[in-house]
Amino acid sequence: MEQFEIAVIPGDGIGKEVVPAAIRVLEAVADIHGGLGFRWTSFPWSCDYYLKHGVMMPEDGIETLKGFHQIFLGAVGMPRLVPDHVSLWGLLIKIRRELHQSINVRPAKLLRGLTSPLRDPGEFDLVVVRENSEGEYSEIGGRMHRGADEMAMQTAVFTRKATERAMHYAFELASRRRKHVTSATKSNGISHSMPFWDDVFQDVAQAHPEIATSKHHIDALAAFFVMKPQMFDVIVASNLFGDILTDLGGAIMGSIGIAPAANLNVERSYPSMFEPVHGSAPDIAGQGIANPLGQIWTGKMMLDFLGFEEMGTLVLKAMEATLASGVKTPDLGGKATTTEVTDEVIAYLRRRA
Ligand code: NAD
Ligand code: IPM
Ligand code: MN
Repeated sequence: MEQFEIAVIPGDGIGKEVVPAAIRVLEAVADIHGGLGFRWTSFPWSCDYYLKHGVMMPEDGIETLKGFHQIFLGAVGMPRLVPDHVSLWGLLIKIRRELHQSINVRPAKLLRGLTSPLRDPGEFDLVVVRENSEGEYSEIGGRMHRGADEMAMQTAVFTRKATERAMHYAFELASRRRKHVTSATKSNGISHSMPFWDDVFQDVAQAHPEIATSKHHIDALAAFFVMKPQMFDVIVASNLFGDILTDLGGAIMGSIGIAPAANLNVERSYPSMFEPVHGSAPDIAGQGIANPLGQIWTGKMMLDFLGFEEMGTLVLKAMEATLASGVKTPDLGGKATTTEVTDEVIAYLRRRA
């Protein structure tokens, strides 16, 4: 029996609804497999925690997380009561950085049983590899002056090490897929960091001659996501470009509520963190109608990372069967609740076991 210690951070809003749903699915998987077990340890770190304690997580929170195999997180943010940059830099971004989760892998593909909002989606199946540790997300800058001269500056940081790491990961992933990597750039308008990005891409591409490449400026690339998503296999993008592209990836699948993500520490020196693309969705939180499929698919990515790919594939099949049977939450045009969708996924798993 392989037993995994998982730190669970449901976080805020619908995170508290979809995380327990996905854990039920993973428990069913463990039960069916027989040789796999999870021990879940839940931490209340969130905006509620911040309102009580003045911090998003205790001082030794990162050290505590280092003792687990992986981290399963829902969503963070309660923008009405806690400024987003405080809550996110105090928890989500802090974990990503301090645990060296430098690669964010975010697939988007048209699932069986789903209607894309695109007129002609084709059979798209792509993965965005997002650089997850630097880029446009930096703490360098500041606000100055008051009144008419008030201004803010923010410096983007691109190191060769982190850029190469993300690109090598993208090429290796592509070698196991359809052997094509697209670079998301903007070297026509951003005069230092993006020409640098292009140069590193060219160098990394030379080390992977078996992989075909293309590059597009991020504006045109966003349009291609809508017009011809079938043209993409793996896309490598900076932190901000990858962030924006992956909400779009969710949207073309049918809902951002199904888009999964994995924040990977590829060296496996510290735990990785599995957390869907979407946020805490304050507009629907507490109603029991959040789509759990993004969190469930994220659980599938954790199964894959732990080496249980067969079980991961079964979870994706169960999701598709659930969608095909018409059991869908309102974001996908259905009437089902979070619990009903989760029950249907588990029922399929049990039937197939
Ligand atoms: P959001 O992703 O929370 O919501 C955007 C829209 O998508 C909303 O209409 C929401 O109802 C819908 N949606 C999202 N997930 C859904 C699901 N599973 N089922 C059905 N509908 C779903 O984005 P936002 O409104 O910009 O952000 C809300 C808060 O979440 C903010 O505090 C933001 O900073 C934070 N946030 C956190 C994360 C994270 O923790 N990973 C990611 C994105 C945003
Ligand atoms: C995401 C989120 C975060 C990001 C925010 C909440 C800081 O949008 O995980 O996609 O931009 O990385
Ligand atoms: Mn995002």
